Amino acid sequence: MPDKKAQVISDVVLSFYKVATVDFLIGYQFRKIQEFQGSSPLTPPIEAFKNHLPRIEKFWRMQLLGEKLNDGERFDLMSIHKDLLVRKGEVNRWVLLFKQTLLAYEMDHPENKDFLKNWNKKIEEFEKRFLTFLF
Ligand code: HEM
Repeated sequence: MPDKKAQVISDVVLSFYKVATVDFLIGYQFRKIQEFQGSSPLTPPIEAFKNHLPRIEKFWRMQLLGEKLNDGERFDLMSIHKDLLVRKGEVNRWVLLFKQTLLAYEMDHPENKDFLKNWNKKIEEFEKRFLTFLF
């Protein structure tokens, strides 16, 4: 059921961003694109990323559900991350946090095991791709 899987994607992406945007190592990267400041500069509310999250969800729906891009829509992943000056250790941290998010989600929703396993494999492919192309 694609709708159910789209909801899984939305939930996982939200959980990941709640952690990543305030992470002590990579949070500062996301704070470069936060839309407004919260009461504390290091812990922006998740609402400060409300324009970013739908793009990320769309990306993963393409990757995991085969959804197509609309006309004029594109993802230029490598150049976006190059511009951010992402470091190797930051890729490793991103991957660790994403995998932890997938694991935690699986504990609460074991019926999605296969889907999450496939997602985990995709994360490893992107890790390789990032480490090959960015450095
Ligand atoms: C390794 C796997 C990664 C994947 C699959 C991934 C995926 C994405 C995607 C799909 C976007 C949206 C691009 C767009 O809107 O066109 C994005 C943007 C972004 N990513 Fe990543 N990312 C990865 C690693 C990282 C790392 C390591 C960092 C930083 C530590 C990071 C920080 C960001 C930030 C701050 C943006 C927003 C950039 C902007 O809108 O200008 N990402 N990423």
